[in-house]
Amino acid sequence: MDLKDLETELARLLAGRWEEWQREKRIEFEVHSLSETDALGAVVERVLENGTVISLLGTLGAGKTRFVQAVSSAAGVPEDEVTSPTFVLIQEYVSGKRPIFHFDAYRLKDDDEFLELGPEEYFDGGGLTFIEWADRVESCLPRDYVQIRISQTGAESRLFEFRRLRK
Ligand SMILES: Nc1ncnc2c1ncn2[C@@H]1O[C@H](COP(=O)(O)OP(=O)(O)OP(=O)(O)O)[C@@H](O)[C@H]1O
Ligand SMILES: [Mg+2]
Repeated sequence: MDLKDLETELARLLAGRWEEWQREKRIEFEVHSLSETDALGAVVERVLENGTVISLLGTLGAGKTRFVQAVSSAAGVPEDEVTSPTFVLIQEYVSGKRPIFHFDAYRLKDDDEFLELGPEEYFDGGGLTFIEWADRVESCLPRDYVQIRISQTGAESRLFEFRRLRK
């Protein structure tokens, strides 16, 4: 599958009514370099509508932050603005063509600590919301969300798995 086919597939996954596709539906795409991650980020930026919440999963160093950088950069946010929100917990990038909200749940003690950040306001904030380690605050996610799992398959290779989930 090339990037163009991926874009079509992702758009179909995101646009279809929930009932029209299976919970098991998953789209896989492997990149082999940082520049391919950037190209993938541009495709994802095009297909995701404002108001989408994206759960980013993958081990330390898998590339979650780097992927948010790729998507944000496609939206016009300068790359150096996008850094790991591990210590500040939430970052907002508003200098691009749409706001991007970037959470990292890695260091959160519990759901309450996440809820104190007021995530609902970001979810409905007219942009994209990315949450690294979102499985740690799963009960706080909206009913519908997109999950992207990143696995390292080589020095610069990464496998991306896309799912649309409903709780
Ligand atoms: N194709 C690629 N896509 C993304 N990152 C890559 C790729 N190839 C190499 N890397 C490197 O992998 C590292 C990914 O780090 P990043 O901070 O994005 O991971 P993370 O998943 O956010 O980790 P953490 O859980 O610690 O927040 C970076 O150093 C990046 O340069
Ligand atoms: Mg990170």
